[in-house]
Amino acid sequence: MTIRNVKLAPSILAADFARLGDQVAEAEHAGANRIHVDVMDGHFVPNISMGTPIISSLRMVTRLPLEAHLMISNPDFFVDEFTHAGIDAFLVHWEGNNDLSRTVRHVKALGKRVGVAINPATSATVLEDIIEELDQVLVMTVNPGFGHQHFLHATLKKVRRARDMIDSMKLNCALAVDGGIDATTAPLAVAAGADVLVAGSAIFNDGESISAAMQGLRAAATSGEMSCSWR
Ligand code: DX5
Ligand code: ZN
Repeated sequence: MTIRNVKLAPSILAADFARLGDQVAEAEHAGANRIHVDVMDGHFVPNISMGTPIISSLRMVTRLPLEAHLMISNPDFFVDEFTHAGIDAFLVHWEGNNDLSRTVRHVKALGKRVGVAINPATSATVLEDIIEELDQVLVMTVNPGFGHQHFLHATLKKVRRARDMIDSMKLNCALAVDGGIDATTAPLAVAAGADVLVAGSAIFNDGESISAAMQGLRAAATSGEMSCSWR
């Protein structure tokens, strides 16, 4: 069995924006590996979230890598501006992008890490001809656009397929899951092959502290590793 050293990427979509700096600092202190910033334009997904002012402010309060999950039409128009604001990595969607390779190369030319995200109804096979260029694949485990949704179990099969692709091609590519990740679903995603967990509401909530929530998620991820005997 390979121990994958699962990484946690708190999604600030669920944070209290009036206390964002403090909450990100607490997540950093509790061992977050990166901060996940969900950018939505009200067009690619039916919701609007945040843009460069929040990224610039975050850049001043944390040393963690900032990753932008771009749920926007025409991501190419924004990657330069976001890079300038302090983003270290981009996740761009396969869906609706007529020239994904151009977007991926654009991000790489800026010296930033790049990943491709796929929605629940999109097959892992669309990754085959682009995956060798990627630092990360993101399997959406809910439909994009909102936090606090229920994990879609049917996506686990796709996580396994993406893991097989990465392993069989011997790629240095992370495999992230995003949406509905909590202490119950994290072990399932990790056992299926995920090595990065994006989590919003399971980390930023009123029920427990950010560090307690992250500790719980880490423990759950470890149990997922242990239960996975096929690696
Ligand atoms: C959904 C976003 C997620 C979201 C996850 O479109 O991409 O990153 O913040 O939120 P939870 O963890 O609450 O499902
Ligand atoms: Zn996201």
